[in-house]
Amino acid sequence: MTLEFSFPMRVLFVIIFAATLVACDSSTPTPIKTPPPEVKLQDPGVRLVEPAAGNSLPGLDSNFQKLFAAGLEEFSKPDLVKDDGLGPTFNFISCVGCHAYPSVGGSSPGPTKNNSKPINPQYTFWKANLSKTNQLPSFIKGDDLANPGFTPVREARFVHVENDQTIPDGGVHALYTIVGLPGAENCTGLKQPDFEKAVREKNVIFRIPTPVFGAGLIEQIPDTAIEENQKRQLKEKESYGISGKSNITMSGRTSTGLPNRNGNDGTIARFGWKAQNKSLLVFAGEAYNVEMGISNELFPTEREETPACQGKPAPNDRTHPEKADPMEVLSDVEKFAAFMRLLAPPEPSKDMPGGFASIEKGKSLFKTVGCAYCHTPQFTTGKSDIPQLDNKPVNLYSDLLIHNMGPKLADGISQGQATGDEFRTAPLWGLGQRMWFLHDGRTSDLLQAIDEHESSTGLNQSEANKSVEEFHGLPKESKQDLLNFLRSL
Ligand code: HEC
Ligand code: HEC
Repeated sequence: MTLEFSFPMRVLFVIIFAATLVACDSSTPTPIKTPPPEVKLQDPGVRLVEPAAGNSLPGLDSNFQKLFAAGLEEFSKPDLVKDDGLGPTFNFISCVGCHAYPSVGGSSPGPTKNNSKPINPQYTFWKANLSKTNQLPSFIKGDDLANPGFTPVREARFVHVENDQTIPDGGVHALYTIVGLPGAENCTGLKQPDFEKAVREKNVIFRIPTPVFGAGLIEQIPDTAIEENQKRQLKEKESYGISGKSNITMSGRTSTGLPNRNGNDGTIARFGWKAQNKSLLVFAGEAYNVEMGISNELFPTEREETPACQGKPAPNDRTHPEKADPMEVLSDVEKFAAFMRLLAPPEPSKDMPGGFASIEKGKSLFKTVGCAYCHTPQFTTGKSDIPQLDNKPVNLYSDLLIHNMGPKLADGISQGQATGDEFRTAPLWGLGQRMWFLHDGRTSDLLQAIDEHESSTGLNQSEANKSVEEFHGLPKESKQDLLNFLRSL
């Protein structure tokens, strides 16, 4: 008797045969038994709910509410060459472009509503306004056909001066010039830095925007509180190899790249990836000039002084005693600082992601494995005239100290007391709605962000090595609890 198969059955056999061939052909041997399905350890990702930040501190009186609103408006306003003095060189045209997600004051960009792909506004602006006169640096991506992919907003610093590796640079080199923008008709001949050469020679490092939610609370932490926290659990910290120091002087080399010869008041600087800046006002003044090319009463000199390229006399921004409305008397930099000072801290979630119990377990494991020796869960502000900043808890998850993070994170830039491999413990509040991590935004994956803390080889080890090893030693469910906790912040 011959076996007869119907046509469909024969087709089925051919498919099974082909599938077997494919399976045999692949270089990995087919497992004999299929292992039980495993739950994969993973970063739960950005908490895509309503923004958990962006409002003012609760209960401000009506005058402070006005001040917050005026600051928010100025922080959100795009600036122009003629009216505002934008440029001659700049990284973007508004504070909010770089501090946008999950709401005004955050980092940038974030996932968009319909399409989860983050579009870098530095790319969008170039495409719409500068594509004929400026070259798009290869490290700014918005999924252009010629340059596919996505990048966070970036600021570029050169490690050493061009053509001489022995002379440190460290300064921010602006991405664009105003050539081609309205108001800059007489400005010709300004050149962008040779970014592609710097990329080839590995002479360029990146910084992404840090969020400014709750920044007024950070500003109001007394130095003694930082120092007392540094001395707490000293034995335990030592056994982890954790020391850390405060960044005491003002930046010895500011982001203008020029040596800062000003005296300083000797108090602890705390803002920026290397805790290089003292206050929100100083940061606002510096950002206005460095990121947007708008000189002001704190940083009154233009970074690029070509006469034909000045939209406005320097300083571009100033106080206006001729105005009647107090909000119009204030300079822009004072408004920026006030807005940031009055921004509420991010609101953590009690049960997302992973549920209340998992988050609580993660919170306690964060201490067990030593993360909290650097990422100090809480400080308390000192006395303040503003009731919302007076003697208030600050759940920032940072000791505000700088630590040696080893060769994997080192960027070779010194700022104040912070050397090339030292960084401020990044505050973790708001982490659940952050898209990019670490000073250069090298990853969007929390697990990788943790791994990058560890640099075991060489003499110059990261202070976080033992803590990261202990994290890896946890059972998988516990690691997931810790990740859930981080994304609840
Ligand atoms: C081109 C993008 C860009 C623009 C525009 C920009 N920033 Fe930033 N901002 C950054 C980057 C990058 C950092 C981190 C810099 C560092 O520490 O090296 C930062 C950090 C800050 C910080 C420090 C916060 C902290 O806790 O460390 C403050 C404050 C700040 N910016 C305020 C402003 C203000 C005010 C404006 C508008 C005048 C502004 N920024 C415009 C990119 C930008
Ligand atoms: C020795 C001090 C130290 C220890 C211990 C430490 N961290 Fe950090 N952490 C830092 C510093 C410094 C940074 C910023 C590094 C950079 O950007 O280059 C950072 C950054 C981070 C970031 C990225 C935040 C951001 O804004 O991009 C996460 C997430 C993080 N740490 C989680 C952890 C976890 C989880 C642990 C414990 C397993 C831990 N850290 C242990 C010092 C530490």
